[in-house]
Amino acid sequence: MIGRLNHVAIVVPDLAAASRTYRETLGAKVSAPVDLPAHGVTTVFVELDNTKIELLHPFGEKSPIAKFLADHPSGGMHHVCYEVDDILAARDRLKAQGARVLGDGEPKIGAHDKPVLFLHPKDFAGTLVELEQA
Ligand code: CO
Repeated sequence: MIGRLNHVAIVVPDLAAASRTYRETLGAKVSAPVDLPAHGVTTVFVELDNTKIELLHPFGEKSPIAKFLADHPSGGMHHVCYEVDDILAARDRLKAQGARVLGDGEPKIGAHDKPVLFLHPKDFAGTLVELEQA
């Protein structure tokens, strides 16, 4: 059911420092920071040949990643995002198998303007999983 790894998201305490690490130490192509107020994050996209890394930092007072950063002050891996062809069919299949879909279970428009859902980490080897309709 799942297709490509769309991205791995990493929460960082300092976007400029993390951008430098990816650009200069790792030699990757790194975007300028992009504020996504609707998502409560500022994002830097690291483009790799086969996927992306998204560096995330809280934006605004009610950022959904503020607690994660408080719990992981040095930063850390936050979620992986897999592509699916049909997000509603994927959701229904997962729910039928007992997986928990976060929120109200309806897809939201994600950071790439495509429908996304998040799945409970306890059902997926301790990892928060995002599904994105490709
Ligand atoms: Co994501």
